[in-house]
Amino acid sequence: MYNTEVIKIKDSLIKDKAIDKIAETTAIKKAAQHLLNNEVVAFPTETVYGLGANALEKQAVSKIFEAKGRPSDNPLIAHISDKKQLPVLIEGDVTGVAEILINEFWPGPLTLIFNKSMRMPQVTTAGLNTVAVRMPSHPVALALISKVNLPLAAPSANSSGFPSPTRAQHVYNDLNGKIPLIVDGGICNIGVESTVVEIEENIVNILRPGGITRRMINEVIGDSYQVKIADTAEVNRPKSPGMKYKHYAPRTPLWIFKNENNLQELLNDYNINNRETLVILSSETLNTVDKNTIKTDLKNMGTINNLEYIAQNLFNLLREADQKSYELVLIEEVPNRDIGEAVMNRLKKAAVKII
Ligand code: TXA
Ligand code: MG
Repeated sequence: MYNTEVIKIKDSLIKDKAIDKIAETTAIKKAAQHLLNNEVVAFPTETVYGLGANALEKQAVSKIFEAKGRPSDNPLIAHISDKKQLPVLIEGDVTGVAEILINEFWPGPLTLIFNKSMRMPQVTTAGLNTVAVRMPSHPVALALISKVNLPLAAPSANSSGFPSPTRAQHVYNDLNGKIPLIVDGGICNIGVESTVVEIEENIVNILRPGGITRRMINEVIGDSYQVKIADTAEVNRPKSPGMKYKHYAPRTPLWIFKNENNLQELLNDYNINNRETLVILSSETLNTVDKNTIKTDLKNMGTINNLEYIAQNLFNLLREADQKSYELVLIEEVPNRDIGEAVMNRLKKAAVKII
Protein backbone atom coordinates (compact mmCIF):
# COMPACT_ATOMS: atom_id res chain seq x y z
CA MET A 1 0.00 0.00 0.00
CA TYR A 2 1.14 3.50 -0.83
CA ASN A 3 0.07 6.78 0.65
CA THR A 4 -0.88 8.21 -2.75
CA GLU A 5 0.17 11.81 -3.20
CA VAL A 6 -1.55 14.12 -5.73
CA ILE A 7 0.44 17.18 -6.79
CA LYS A 8 -1.02 19.77 -9.12
CA ILE A 9 0.91 21.62 -11.79
CA LYS A 10 -0.23 25.21 -12.30
CA ASP A 11 -2.63 25.67 -15.21
CA SER A 12 -0.72 28.74 -16.39
CA LEU A 13 2.49 26.71 -16.89
CA ILE A 14 0.55 24.14 -18.92
CA LYS A 15 -1.20 26.80 -20.99
CA ASP A 16 2.13 28.47 -21.74
CA LYS A 17 3.65 25.07 -22.65
CA ALA A 18 6.51 26.03 -20.32
CA ILE A 19 8.20 22.62 -20.44
CA ASP A 20 11.46 23.81 -18.85
CA LYS A 21 9.65 25.44 -15.94
CA ILE A 22 7.36 22.43 -15.46
CA ALA A 23 10.46 20.23 -15.28
CA GLU A 24 11.60 22.23 -12.25
CA THR A 25 8.37 21.88 -10.25
CA THR A 26 8.23 19.74 -7.11
CA ALA A 27 5.71 17.47 -8.80
CA ILE A 28 8.04 16.58 -11.66
CA LYS A 29 11.11 16.33 -9.43
CA LYS A 30 9.30 13.88 -7.15
CA ALA A 31 7.86 11.97 -10.10
CA ALA A 32 11.30 11.65 -11.68
CA GLN A 33 12.74 10.39 -8.41
CA HIS A 34 10.07 7.69 -8.15
CA LEU A 35 10.66 6.63 -11.76
CA LEU A 36 14.41 6.39 -11.21
CA ASN A 37 13.66 4.18 -8.19
CA ASN A 38 11.66 1.84 -10.47
CA GLU A 39 8.33 3.04 -9.10
CA VAL A 40 5.25 3.96 -11.15
CA VAL A 41 3.74 7.43 -11.44
CA ALA A 42 0.50 8.69 -13.03
CA PHE A 43 0.84 11.71 -15.31
CA PRO A 44 -1.33 13.58 -17.81
CA THR A 45 -1.08 13.26 -21.57
CA GLU A 46 -3.19 15.07 -24.15
CA THR A 47 -5.30 11.91 -24.60
CA VAL A 48 -5.79 10.35 -21.16
CA TYR A 49 -3.72 9.98 -17.97
CA GLY A 50 -0.95 7.42 -18.23
CA LEU A 51 0.61 5.18 -15.59
CA GLY A 52 4.32 5.39 -16.32
CA ALA A 53 7.42 3.39 -15.44
CA ASN A 54 10.87 3.00 -16.95
CA ALA A 55 10.14 0.99 -20.12
CA LEU A 56 13.59 -0.58 -20.02
CA GLU A 57 13.30 -2.02 -16.49
CA LYS A 58 11.41 -5.26 -16.12
CA GLN A 59 10.87 -4.77 -12.42
CA ALA A 60 9.42 -1.27 -12.87
CA VAL A 61 7.12 -2.31 -15.71
CA SER A 62 5.76 -5.27 -13.72
CA LYS A 63 4.47 -2.78 -11.16
CA ILE A 64 2.25 -1.18 -13.83
CA PHE A 65 0.54 -4.51 -14.52
CA GLU A 66 0.13 -5.08 -10.80
CA ALA A 67 -1.36 -1.66 -9.99
CA LYS A 68 -3.87 -1.80 -12.86
CA GLY A 69 -4.69 -5.49 -12.62
CA ARG A 70 -3.78 -5.66 -16.31
CA PRO A 71 -3.47 -9.03 -18.09
CA SER A 72 0.22 -9.69 -18.80
CA ASP A 73 -0.41 -10.45 -22.49
CA ASN A 74 -1.48 -6.86 -23.18
CA PRO A 75 1.57 -4.85 -24.33
CA LEU A 76 2.34 -1.26 -23.34
CA ILE A 77 3.15 1.88 -25.31
CA ALA A 78 6.63 3.38 -24.79
CA HIS A 79 6.45 7.19 -24.49
CA ILE A 80 9.34 9.36 -25.61
CA SER A 81 10.01 13.10 -25.62
CA ASP A 82 12.63 13.19 -28.36
CA LYS A 83 13.23 11.18 -31.52
CA LYS A 84 16.75 10.53 -30.22
CA GLN A 85 15.17 8.05 -27.81
CA LEU A 86 13.92 5.84 -30.66
CA PRO A 87 17.05 3.79 -31.47
CA VAL A 88 17.18 2.19 -28.03
CA LEU A 89 13.60 0.98 -28.48
CA ILE A 90 13.37 -0.11 -32.08
CA GLU A 91 15.25 -2.26 -34.57
CA GLY A 92 16.31 -0.53 -37.80
CA ASP A 93 15.68 2.92 -39.19
CA VAL A 94 12.49 4.90 -39.52
CA THR A 95 11.72 5.37 -43.20
CA GLY A 96 8.87 5.79 -45.67
CA VAL A 97 5.38 6.35 -44.41
CA ALA A 98 6.40 5.94 -40.75
CA GLU A 99 8.71 8.90 -41.17
CA ILE A 100 5.98 10.96 -42.82
CA LEU A 101 3.54 10.19 -40.01
CA ILE A 102 6.10 10.98 -37.30
CA ASN A 103 7.04 14.29 -38.90
CA GLU A 104 3.41 15.25 -39.21
CA PHE A 105 1.88 14.00 -35.97
CA TRP A 106 4.57 13.84 -33.27
CA PRO A 107 4.34 15.05 -30.65
CA GLY A 108 0.69 14.01 -30.60
CA PRO A 109 -1.85 11.19 -30.23
CA LEU A 110 -0.39 8.73 -32.73
CA THR A 111 1.26 5.45 -31.73
CA LEU A 112 3.36 3.52 -34.22
CA ILE A 113 4.35 -0.13 -34.10
CA PHE A 114 8.00 -0.99 -34.86
CA ASN A 115 10.16 -4.08 -34.63
CA LYS A 116 11.55 -4.01 -31.12
CA SER A 117 15.19 -3.72 -30.14
CA MET A 118 16.98 -6.35 -28.05
CA ARG A 119 17.07 -3.83 -25.22
CA MET A 120 13.27 -3.80 -24.70
CA PRO A 121 12.24 -6.24 -21.98
CA GLN A 122 9.61 -8.85 -22.88
CA VAL A 123 7.31 -7.63 -20.13
CA THR A 124 6.85 -4.22 -21.83
CA THR A 125 5.84 -5.74 -25.16
CA ALA A 126 4.06 -8.74 -23.62
CA GLY A 127 6.38 -11.07 -25.47
CA LEU A 128 5.75 -9.57 -28.93
CA ASN A 129 8.60 -8.86 -31.35
CA THR A 130 7.17 -5.41 -31.90
CA VAL A 131 6.98 -2.31 -29.73
CA ALA A 132 4.44 0.53 -29.74
CA VAL A 133 5.91 4.03 -29.43
CA ARG A 134 4.45 7.49 -29.17
CA MET A 135 5.58 11.02 -28.36
CA PRO A 136 2.82 12.74 -26.38
CA SER A 137 2.28 16.48 -26.80
CA HIS A 138 1.15 17.35 -23.27
CA PRO A 139 3.79 19.67 -21.77
CA VAL A 140 3.72 17.81 -18.43
CA ALA A 141 4.36 14.47 -20.14
CA LEU A 142 7.18 15.97 -22.19
CA ALA A 143 8.70 17.62 -19.11
CA LEU A 144 8.59 14.37 -17.14
CA ILE A 145 10.04 12.16 -19.88
CA SER A 146 12.86 14.57 -20.66
CA LYS A 147 13.62 15.04 -16.95
CA VAL A 148 14.15 11.30 -16.40
CA ASN A 149 15.58 10.93 -19.89
CA LEU A 150 14.07 7.45 -20.19
CA PRO A 151 11.30 6.00 -22.35
CA LEU A 152 8.23 5.54 -20.16
CA ALA A 153 5.98 2.53 -20.64
CA ALA A 154 2.50 3.83 -19.90
CA PRO A 155 -0.97 2.38 -20.31
CA SER A 156 -4.01 4.45 -19.40
CA ALA A 157 -4.00 4.99 -15.62
CA ASN A 158 -7.33 3.27 -14.87
CA SER A 159 -8.07 -0.05 -13.23
CA SER A 160 -8.05 -2.59 -16.04
CA GLY A 161 -11.42 -2.69 -17.86
CA PHE A 162 -12.78 0.64 -16.60
CA PRO A 163 -13.11 3.89 -18.58
CA SER A 164 -9.78 5.63 -19.13
CA PRO A 165 -9.02 8.55 -16.81
CA THR A 166 -9.18 12.07 -18.22
CA ARG A 167 -8.77 13.82 -14.85
CA ALA A 168 -6.46 13.27 -11.88
CA GLN A 169 -9.53 12.51 -9.76
CA HIS A 170 -10.39 9.54 -12.02
CA VAL A 171 -6.91 8.12 -11.45
CA TYR A 172 -7.24 8.65 -7.72
CA ASN A 173 -10.61 6.89 -7.63
CA ASP A 174 -9.13 3.81 -9.33
CA LEU A 175 -5.57 3.67 -8.00
CA ASN A 176 -5.51 5.33 -4.58
CA GLY A 177 -3.14 3.32 -2.37
CA LYS A 178 -1.72 1.41 -5.32
CA ILE A 179 0.75 4.03 -6.61
CA PRO A 180 2.94 6.62 -4.87
CA LEU A 181 2.14 9.73 -6.94
CA ILE A 182 -0.37 11.32 -9.32
CA VAL A 183 0.82 14.41 -11.19
CA ASP A 184 -2.32 16.50 -11.72
CA GLY A 185 -2.19 18.38 -15.01
CA GLY A 186 -5.89 19.19 -15.31
CA ILE A 187 -8.32 17.76 -17.86
CA CYS A 188 -6.97 15.89 -20.89
CA ASN A 189 -8.16 17.77 -23.93
CA ILE A 190 -8.51 14.96 -26.48
CA GLY A 191 -10.22 12.56 -24.10
CA VAL A 192 -9.79 9.32 -26.07
CA GLU A 193 -6.53 7.43 -26.44
CA SER A 194 -3.99 7.67 -29.23
CA THR A 195 -4.49 6.07 -32.63
CA VAL A 196 -2.42 2.87 -32.86
CA VAL A 197 -1.14 2.11 -36.36
CA GLU A 198 0.89 -0.62 -37.92
CA ILE A 199 2.47 -0.20 -41.33
CA GLU A 200 2.53 -3.10 -43.78
CA GLU A 201 4.18 -2.29 -47.11
CA ASN A 202 1.76 0.23 -48.58
CA ILE A 203 -1.01 -0.16 -46.02
CA VAL A 204 -1.47 1.93 -42.89
CA ASN A 205 -3.49 -0.35 -40.66
CA ILE A 206 -5.31 1.40 -37.82
CA LEU A 207 -5.39 -1.12 -34.97
CA ARG A 208 -7.11 1.35 -32.64
CA PRO A 209 -8.84 4.52 -33.87
CA GLY A 210 -7.99 7.51 -31.68
CA GLY A 211 -6.93 11.13 -31.46
CA ILE A 212 -5.41 11.24 -34.96
CA THR A 213 -8.26 10.39 -37.30
CA ARG A 214 -8.29 8.28 -40.45
CA ARG A 215 -9.05 11.42 -42.42
CA MET A 216 -6.01 13.24 -40.96
CA ILE A 217 -3.77 10.30 -41.88
CA ASN A 218 -5.24 10.11 -45.38
CA GLU A 219 -4.57 13.77 -45.94
CA VAL A 220 -0.82 13.47 -45.34
CA ILE A 221 0.19 10.15 -46.85
CA GLY A 222 -0.86 10.56 -50.47
CA ASP A 223 -2.21 8.07 -52.97
CA SER A 224 0.54 5.47 -52.84
CA TYR A 225 -0.69 4.29 -49.43
CA GLN A 226 -3.99 2.89 -48.33
CA VAL A 227 -5.47 3.48 -44.87
CA LYS A 228 -7.74 0.93 -43.28
CA ILE A 229 -9.24 0.26 -39.89
CA ALA A 230 -8.38 -3.27 -38.74
CA ASP A 231 -11.40 -5.56 -39.05
CA THR A 232 -12.80 -7.86 -36.42
CA ALA A 233 -10.94 -10.90 -37.73
CA GLU A 234 -7.67 -9.10 -37.21
CA VAL A 235 -8.72 -7.87 -33.82
CA ASN A 236 -9.45 -11.43 -32.79
CA ARG A 237 -6.11 -12.67 -34.03
CA PRO A 238 -5.30 -10.36 -32.15
CA LYS A 239 -2.92 -7.81 -33.61
CA SER A 240 -3.37 -5.24 -30.92
CA PRO A 241 -3.86 -7.66 -28.06
CA GLY A 242 -5.55 -5.08 -25.85
CA MET A 243 -8.47 -5.00 -28.22
CA LYS A 244 -9.72 -8.45 -27.31
CA TYR A 245 -10.52 -7.49 -23.73
CA LYS A 246 -13.66 -5.84 -22.48
CA HIS A 247 -12.81 -2.24 -21.97
CA TYR A 248 -13.86 1.22 -20.96
CA ALA A 249 -16.95 -0.13 -19.26
CA PRO A 250 -18.76 1.56 -16.41
CA ARG A 251 -20.01 -0.77 -13.66
CA THR A 252 -23.59 0.01 -14.65
CA PRO A 253 -24.63 -1.91 -17.81
CA LEU A 254 -24.34 0.32 -20.88
CA TRP A 255 -26.53 0.08 -23.98
CA ILE A 256 -26.01 2.04 -27.17
CA PHE A 257 -29.12 3.25 -28.94
CA LYS A 258 -29.21 3.99 -32.63
CA ASN A 259 -30.60 7.38 -33.42
CA GLU A 260 -32.60 6.08 -36.38
CA ASN A 261 -34.92 4.71 -33.70
CA ASN A 262 -37.39 6.79 -31.79
CA LEU A 263 -36.13 7.11 -28.23
CA GLN A 264 -39.58 7.28 -26.71
CA GLU A 265 -40.63 4.04 -28.40
CA LEU A 266 -37.41 2.28 -27.44
CA LEU A 267 -37.84 3.19 -23.79
CA ASN A 268 -41.39 1.85 -23.81
CA ASP A 269 -40.56 -1.27 -25.85
CA TYR A 270 -37.79 -2.26 -23.46
CA ASN A 271 -39.76 -1.18 -20.44
CA ILE A 272 -36.98 1.14 -19.25
CA ASN A 273 -38.80 4.46 -19.16
CA ASN A 274 -38.09 5.04 -15.48
CA ARG A 275 -35.85 6.88 -13.03
CA GLU A 276 -33.44 3.94 -12.76
CA THR A 277 -32.28 4.60 -16.31
CA LEU A 278 -29.96 7.37 -17.44
CA VAL A 279 -30.07 8.41 -21.09
CA ILE A 280 -27.00 10.21 -22.47
CA LEU A 281 -27.93 11.86 -25.75
CA SER A 282 -26.91 14.48 -28.28
CA SER A 283 -28.34 17.97 -27.98
CA GLU A 284 -30.04 17.37 -31.35
CA THR A 285 -31.95 14.34 -30.03
CA LEU A 286 -32.60 16.07 -26.72
CA ASN A 287 -34.40 18.84 -28.61
CA THR A 288 -36.78 16.34 -30.19
CA VAL A 289 -37.90 14.45 -27.07
CA ASP A 290 -41.02 15.23 -25.10
CA LYS A 291 -39.81 15.72 -21.54
CA ASN A 292 -43.29 15.14 -20.15
CA THR A 293 -43.47 11.55 -21.36
CA ILE A 294 -39.83 10.57 -20.86
CA LYS A 295 -39.30 9.62 -17.24
CA THR A 296 -35.60 8.73 -17.34
CA ASP A 297 -32.84 11.11 -16.33
CA LEU A 298 -31.39 12.82 -19.38
CA LYS A 299 -27.81 13.97 -19.87
CA ASN A 300 -26.71 16.10 -22.79
CA MET A 301 -23.44 14.93 -24.40
CA GLY A 302 -23.26 17.94 -26.73
CA THR A 303 -23.91 18.53 -30.39
CA ILE A 304 -22.90 15.98 -33.03
CA ASN A 305 -21.41 18.90 -34.94
CA ASN A 306 -18.66 19.00 -32.31
CA LEU A 307 -17.42 15.42 -32.04
CA GLU A 308 -14.18 16.65 -30.43
CA TYR A 309 -16.17 17.93 -27.46
CA ILE A 310 -18.06 14.63 -27.20
CA ALA A 311 -14.76 12.70 -27.27
CA GLN A 312 -13.24 14.97 -24.64
CA ASN A 313 -16.07 14.32 -22.19
CA LEU A 314 -16.88 10.70 -23.01
CA PHE A 315 -15.02 8.89 -20.24
CA ASN A 316 -16.02 11.48 -17.66
CA LEU A 317 -19.68 10.96 -18.56
CA LEU A 318 -19.34 7.19 -18.24
CA ARG A 319 -17.64 7.58 -14.88
CA GLU A 320 -20.25 10.08 -13.65
CA ALA A 321 -23.01 7.68 -14.61
CA ASP A 322 -21.48 5.18 -12.20
CA GLN A 323 -21.55 7.63 -9.30
CA LYS A 324 -25.36 7.48 -9.14
CA SER A 325 -27.02 4.14 -8.64
CA TYR A 326 -28.63 3.69 -12.04
CA GLU A 327 -29.62 0.22 -13.17
CA LEU A 328 -28.98 1.03 -16.79
CA VAL A 329 -27.24 3.67 -18.89
CA LEU A 330 -28.31 4.28 -22.50
CA ILE A 331 -26.02 6.28 -24.73
CA GLU A 332 -26.75 7.55 -28.22
CA GLU A 333 -24.49 6.46 -31.06
CA VAL A 334 -22.49 9.28 -32.68
CA PRO A 335 -21.62 9.69 -36.38
CA ASN A 336 -18.87 7.23 -37.29
CA ARG A 337 -16.56 9.81 -38.83
CA ASP A 338 -13.49 11.76 -37.71
CA ILE A 339 -12.97 11.34 -33.97
CA GLY A 340 -16.45 9.81 -33.84
CA GLU A 341 -14.76 6.60 -35.07
CA ALA A 342 -12.75 6.48 -31.85
CA VAL A 343 -15.82 7.30 -29.74
CA MET A 344 -17.88 4.52 -31.36
CA ASN A 345 -14.98 2.06 -31.03
CA ARG A 346 -14.81 2.69 -27.27
CA LEU A 347 -18.60 2.64 -26.82
CA LYS A 348 -18.94 -0.68 -28.65
CA LYS A 349 -16.34 -2.23 -26.37
CA ALA A 350 -18.00 -0.81 -23.27
CA ALA A 351 -21.59 -1.67 -24.20
CA VAL A 352 -23.42 -4.92 -23.51
CA LYS A 353 -26.16 -4.26 -26.07
CA ILE A 354 -27.02 -2.11 -29.11
CA ILE A 355 -30.68 -1.29 -29.65
O1 TXA B 1 -3.29 7.68 -25.62
C1 TXA B 1 -2.75 6.62 -25.27
O2 TXA B 1 -2.30 5.81 -26.09
C2 TXA B 1 -2.65 6.34 -23.77
C3 TXA B 1 -1.75 7.41 -23.14
C4 TXA B 1 -1.47 7.14 -21.70
O3 TXA B 1 -0.59 7.54 -23.88
N1 TXA B 1 -2.17 5.02 -23.53
C5 TXA B 1 -2.92 3.92 -23.75
O4 TXA B 1 -2.30 2.73 -23.42
O5 TXA B 1 -4.05 3.96 -24.20
P1 TXA B 1 -3.08 1.34 -23.25
O6 TXA B 1 -2.09 0.42 -22.70
O7 TXA B 1 -4.31 1.57 -22.47
O8 TXA B 1 -3.37 0.91 -24.73
C6 TXA B 1 -2.32 0.48 -25.57
C7 TXA B 1 -2.85 -0.21 -26.79
C8 TXA B 1 -3.46 -1.55 -26.45
O9 TXA B 1 -4.62 -1.76 -27.25
C9 TXA B 1 -2.33 -2.51 -26.85
O10 TXA B 1 -2.81 -3.78 -27.17
C10 TXA B 1 -1.74 -1.80 -28.06
O11 TXA B 1 -1.79 -0.43 -27.71
N2 TXA B 1 -0.35 -2.20 -28.28
C11 TXA B 1 0.72 -1.97 -27.49
N3 TXA B 1 1.82 -2.53 -27.99
C12 TXA B 1 1.47 -3.12 -29.15
C13 TXA B 1 2.16 -3.88 -30.14
N4 TXA B 1 3.45 -4.13 -30.04
N5 TXA B 1 1.46 -4.36 -31.20
C14 TXA B 1 0.13 -4.09 -31.31
N6 TXA B 1 -0.58 -3.39 -30.41
C15 TXA B 1 0.07 -2.91 -29.34
MG1 MG C 1 -6.20 1.45 -21.67
